[in-house]
Amino acid sequence: MGDDKNIGVMVRVRPLLAREKSDSSSLIEMPPQADKGKVILKSRTDKKGDKEFIFDEAIWSFDEKDDHYMDNTSFYAKSGPELVDHFFQGYNVCLLAYGQTGSGKTFTMMGDDNNAEGFIPMLVEDILNYKTRLVSDKINCELKFSYMEVYNENVRDLLYDGKDKKWRVREHPDTGPYVEGLKEFDIESFKDFQKYLKIGNRNRSTASTMMNDKSSRSHAIINLYLKQTKFHKNDDDLEIGKIDSEIISNIKLVDLAGSERLSKTQIYGQQDRMKEGSLINKSLMVLGRCINVLSRKTTNNTNEMIPYRDSILTYILKENLGGNSKTVMIFCVAPLDYEETLQTLNYATRVKHIKTRAKQNQIKLSNIRMDWDEAHKNDSIVESLKEEIEVLNEKLTQYEVSNETEKLSKMISFLEKQLTESKFQNKYLSSKIKEMEYEKQELQDHNRYINSLLRDNLNKEVDLKLQHQNQLVENQLNLLEKQIILNQQDLEVFLNDFSPTSVYT
Ligand SMILES: Nc1ncnc2c1ncn2[C@@H]1O[C@H](COP(=O)(O)OP(=O)(O)O)[C@@H](O)[C@H]1O
Ligand SMILES: [Mg+2]
Repeated sequence: MGDDKNIGVMVRVRPLLAREKSDSSSLIEMPPQADKGKVILKSRTDKKGDKEFIFDEAIWSFDEKDDHYMDNTSFYAKSGPELVDHFFQGYNVCLLAYGQTGSGKTFTMMGDDNNAEGFIPMLVEDILNYKTRLVSDKINCELKFSYMEVYNENVRDLLYDGKDKKWRVREHPDTGPYVEGLKEFDIESFKDFQKYLKIGNRNRSTASTMMNDKSSRSHAIINLYLKQTKFHKNDDDLEIGKIDSEIISNIKLVDLAGSERLSKTQIYGQQDRMKEGSLINKSLMVLGRCINVLSRKTTNNTNEMIPYRDSILTYILKENLGGNSKTVMIFCVAPLDYEETLQTLNYATRVKHIKTRAKQNQIKLSNIRMDWDEAHKNDSIVESLKEEIEVLNEKLTQYEVSNETEKLSKMISFLEKQLTESKFQNKYLSSKIKEMEYEKQELQDHNRYINSLLRDNLNKEVDLKLQHQNQLVENQLNLLEKQIILNQQDLEVFLNDFSPTSVYT
């Protein structure tokens, strides 16, 4: 079962650069809201040259004063979290940035040296947070990072610091093409990621052209590999339970080389650059050819072969272009270049038709059982094998050796599983302890709060009692006063009526 979906297509237009300021209006328009995904390309010379396109998203980054302007953060917020979800659901994911040199591919993917963070760092940050949250669900995540470039039709590992070496692309029957021996590093924290990214970026080959000093003529591919190990849920809150299943997925993040034609960069006459340029064009050309065939395939059922193997780039991206992957392409365009933008948008239109079929890579693990007696016997088997080797013919020896290898690799995978289990048990318990400490802290805070309430209430009660008594005393005083007045009045009446003679009569 797979999830058929078209490749997501987004177009982003960058702002004017300092050197472009004399020309101030953009040839590209993206009407806000109501026309979601609409891109209009205007011709300065001929009205008939105006073109309209509809894509999944149109990302307006031309003028920050506009309401629908999007910086890297809002662009990420729009499209990043969905990719993270897919990734954790066990789908392969791919994001490719395409466009001419200087159109904003690297700015979008990586950010810049100043303060704009790019899509990739934001994505990794989200993934790391997600990973931490899963610990309390008894899911262990291993995240690995690799970084390579395809340059002159060669793969280069950007995290490899040994002597020059040739990397080969091989194809796995289940998971598709991969680069053999590519270095992969565990990413536990954002610091780890920054460290490896920096090493990789430093190793990227860049050479200057007239168009953009730091422009890169290589394709950069970051791969994030995720293995999620689910442990059985059981009632015991402090035990992780046995391993239940594994989910494996990867994200490829690709910053493609500039798509401009050779003449644009004025590199004619420079032999090396020519060679470089034409080979880059080879990878991009083949990418274009694959995209053409793929988009024809979904519109009319052709039996055409897709020429993935004609270039290294397309071979590596085989699954992401036409296989098991949820794939999104961001097409970056500069605001003042009609010809290049038209080419890019036509290209993007073809990509829109391509469907990929993503499936969740979940593996239910049957319990690997280990027979220790059997394993122990291996020692003697190996011993006797040693003796026999001299007498057995080549064929038989090889057969035995492969049998042994099988046993050993079984043992290794068993031990690896045990190791994962105990490592995760630790991780899980420390997260529990953290949770409990947090709860304890909360209880203490609450306690303090209740105490202060009690104290306040006590004070209030005493106050009330005093007030009440004051009131009582006051009332009595009032009564007394009234009585005195009454008495006085009585006395006065009595005195008025008093006739002294009556006393003597
Ligand atoms: N959305 C954007 N906002 C601001 N500046 C941008 C944006 N996109 C590109 N730029 C600037 O344009 C220049 C070229 O962008 P860059 O990403 O290097 O192009 P590319 O990688 O396609 O060759 C850089 O100076 C970059 O900072
Ligand atoms: Mg770039």
